[in-house]
Amino acid sequence: MASIIGGLATSHVPAIGGAIHKGRQAEPYWKPFFDAYPPVQRWLGEQRPDVVVVFYNDHGLNFFLDKMPTFAVGAAPRYCNADEGWGIPTTAPLAGCEDLSWHLVESLVADEFDIVTCQEMLVDHACTLPFRLFWPQDEAPPVQIVPIAINTVLFPLPTARRVYKLGLSVGRAITRWADPRRVLVMGTGGLSHQLEGERAGFINKRFDLAFLDSMERNPEWATQFSDRELVAQAGTQGVELLNWLAMRGALSAAGSSVTTVHRNYHIPISNTAAGLLALQVA
Ligand code: DHB
Ligand code: FE
Repeated sequence: MASIIGGLATSHVPAIGGAIHKGRQAEPYWKPFFDAYPPVQRWLGEQRPDVVVVFYNDHGLNFFLDKMPTFAVGAAPRYCNADEGWGIPTTAPLAGCEDLSWHLVESLVADEFDIVTCQEMLVDHACTLPFRLFWPQDEAPPVQIVPIAINTVLFPLPTARRVYKLGLSVGRAITRWADPRRVLVMGTGGLSHQLEGERAGFINKRFDLAFLDSMERNPEWATQFSDRELVAQAGTQGVELLNWLAMRGALSAAGSSVTTVHRNYHIPISNTAAGLLALQVA
């Protein structure tokens, strides 16, 4: 059977792609952000995952406001990036793990999740940048992926509890996958940020740190909040932390407890409170 080795969560601000492209990692603005990643890169070098299930949100590259699935699961042989209008370079395609995709699609539907299955899927900065951060040496990372897009963009959003249950269902399905591969789960986006309106620039450090604290031992803490309460606490785009919650749900399904390998919090990167968390399944 497959094993879940752990989970990673990171912010996915497009400006990160620009900084990588221009080699700005050591500049004072960027250094406290990029310096957080080598410990996780080393951990990945030891753990050597084969497959990564990525919970992320699409920002209008693949789905737009006219068609917005609540949950969409990729089942494609590869996932191409395209110009999304941020001026960040287009990245190499990510290799799909079709076996695991179809296993997850069947398991989720059997578990009463009404997902959209995507045999073609473009992926934006929320899916591509984390791989640039975690495997910076590689043009394409040495893993196959299953992308799962969660709507954090257009109301009504899925509730935090529903997203956590989605993660649990995905995690249970991974542990029942009759394949010996090592699976890592990822959640991208957040932490607090708001890009538009009267509260543009809003950041809530107190809430972010409480959320980060909850992730290791109290993963259901965030499920107490409604979508509107999450917007109030974390900002209109800070609700991307739902992707972190899905990742954590998958780890809960792996059974035993999780321990923190590494964690970082840095304000600001662009308009965002940048968070990083690496969790290992005990
Ligand atoms: C920013 C953050 C995001 O999560 C995003 O998708 C786009 C922009 C920002 O802070 O600039
Ligand atoms: Fe985003």
